[in-house]
Amino acid sequence: MNTDHSPEVVLGVGAGIAAYKVCELLRRFTESGHRVQVVPTADALRFVGEPTWAALSGRPVATGVWDRVHDVPHVRIGQAADLVFVAPATADLLAKAAHGLADDLLTNTLLTARCPVVFAPAMHTEMWEHPATRTNVATLRSRGAIVLDPAVGRLTGADTGRGRLPDPDHLFAAARRVLARGRAPADLAGRRVLVSAGGTREPIDPVRFIGNRSSGRQGYALAATALARGAEVVLVSANVGLPDPAGADVRRVGSALELREAVLAERAKADVIVMAAAVADFRPAASAAGKIKKTGAGPAPVELVENPDILLELSRERARAGQVVVGFAAETDHVLEYGRAKLERKGCDLLVVNQVGDGRAFGTEDNQAVVLGADGSATEIPNGPKEDLADRVWDLVVPRLASDDTDR
Ligand code: CTP
Repeated sequence: MNTDHSPEVVLGVGAGIAAYKVCELLRRFTESGHRVQVVPTADALRFVGEPTWAALSGRPVATGVWDRVHDVPHVRIGQAADLVFVAPATADLLAKAAHGLADDLLTNTLLTARCPVVFAPAMHTEMWEHPATRTNVATLRSRGAIVLDPAVGRLTGADTGRGRLPDPDHLFAAARRVLARGRAPADLAGRRVLVSAGGTREPIDPVRFIGNRSSGRQGYALAATALARGAEVVLVSANVGLPDPAGADVRRVGSALELREAVLAERAKADVIVMAAAVADFRPAASAAGKIKKTGAGPAPVELVENPDILLELSRERARAGQVVVGFAAETDHVLEYGRAKLERKGCDLLVVNQVGDGRAFGTEDNQAVVLGADGSATEIPNGPKEDLADRVWDLVVPRLASDDTDR
């Protein structure tokens, strides 16, 4: 293990066209003081040549186990690493890693590394969705590897779909989160997490809506930190202007009814559901088909009807045994008293209670909260970055997860 202060990163590069984006990722690492050993596969060098990797990393680059054998590179590189980051992880590399094959330097390194390992797959949608790849990804995740879901967008050629390598900046942010955890176990490995984030918009007409001030930052922080702890993350995102956390499967919604549909569709597969979204309690009874015009007779009243309480529904009818349901509450006053009453009314396992108003919580970088448990516990989380708060929430979720995974 590396005892120097600057982290030692092994950047494994697979044979995919997205290798060109990994040059940028390498620069992010080196410019921020990481020492990087690039380990491409032989075919990866068809996409980006050895001189590029060597020049950007400042180190020689080898693909096989027969160079500098006296250094025993097939063991030493993995042993010395603080993080192994594989990008693009091709279907072939995922298969080899899942089966423990070791026919080149990178696959040997994957077997000898005892630090966190992150795979950032990129491939065509058909290959990503193939049952063989799905099984390999599930195997790797169940062993504690972090496998980021590819992003959706333009692929090589004319195709569009899931399979894109996320942007280098977002991959770098994900890598830093994992490095910051040091050797802490990926305690959400093999778990599926469903997070709702943002604020719903309830349409009045095609151009107007009733909305709220939620930025989605807290929900996105929950998704990003869950990914760094090894979870597979589905992020139901309502009107959020933030970049997608690398590795999350993001489903965009607008209104409370759309959010409910998206969450209910995913609930049965989730080990944990976190309702961080600010869901409008009411919506206009009808949304006008055309833009509402001034008539000169004063404003027409907007009739409201109540939205279904999604958190209540999720908590009352658990979709699977042992599922942990977490709610959020924003209160301006009587924070603990109202929070406790809300926890009981909603029936969730944990309720993260924020005090809002006067610029607190909404749209800010920091947040503080009290997390109330159905078991009567109350955990104060001091003011700090929303990612720190998110990690404290996961710290409370993990011991509540069923240890028996036979029902999964
Ligand atoms: N929530 C939900 N469905 C709704 C409203 C809220 O799932 N229709 C969820 C939110 O995602 C959050 C929690 O319920 O996790 C708390 O929401 P909040 O609006 O603060 O609670 P309310 O039940 O609306 O209580 P009140 O308006 O009395 O504060």
